Amino acid sequence: MELYEAMSTLRAVRRLKADPIPEEVQGRILQAATWAPTGGNMQPWRMIAVTDAGNKQALEDLYRPYWEAYVPGYEEKMKSMPEAAQASSRRALDAGTYLATHMHEVPLIAVFCFNPSIMTITDIDQPRTSVVGGGSVYPAVQNFLLACRNEGLGCVLTTLLCYEEAKVKDILSIPEDWYTCAHVPVGYPVLGGHGSIRRKPVEEMVSFNQF
Ligand SMILES: Cc1cc2nc3c(=O)[nH]c(=O)nc-3n(C[C@H](O)[C@H](O)[C@H](O)COP(=O)(O)O)c2cc1C
Repeated sequence: MELYEAMSTLRAVRRLKADPIPEEVQGRILQAATWAPTGGNMQPWRMIAVTDAGNKQALEDLYRPYWEAYVPGYEEKMKSMPEAAQASSRRALDAGTYLATHMHEVPLIAVFCFNPSIMTITDIDQPRTSVVGGGSVYPAVQNFLLACRNEGLGCVLTTLLCYEEAKVKDILSIPEDWYTCAHVPVGYPVLGGHGSIRRKPVEEMVSFNQF
């Protein structure tokens, strides 16, 4: 599909069918992730394509309590939102709860891993949270999401499982020097799937020459 169309309709799709992903489609979305740029072209990321039923259930069991803990705080925040935003947030929360109880059914969960020891993290000594390392992984995640969008597959970037990284590493036999930074459930959408997104106007996000 047209690239700008794909980008501007790539929203979080959390209601996913159990239907399998055809092998050739799966091959294309995995390949797309590998085309992403990385610092020094080191490609310090790997993806585990989790398809095993037991492992998907184990990931869901770790994910669900964090989603359930997240919901009340967000509901509180929703009270101060305009009505239209409240309605769309309610739909997103309900879809999130659907995902948290159906993650074991999705055909694929892409678990993105990274190895900081082979990354040049140029902001590592700054007196703030370091983010540059993520720049060698999240472009691959975004390529993967866009490829899913292109194939008509629903998907959502999630990070709540990072709270349980040690247990995720254990379940998926991730080596000691590799860590996790994104978990992307993928499947054909139950409802309309991707579509319109709500974002701040470009004038608020981008300025010329000065902040
Ligand atoms: C870094 C990051 C972490 C996220 N973590 C989660 C998550 O753990 N669970 C979830 O359901 N959605 C997660 N999301 C999806 C966002 O909530 C979603 O993209 C955002 O609310 C905008 O919604 P939209 O993409 O449908 O427009 C995450 C997105 C990003 C970029």
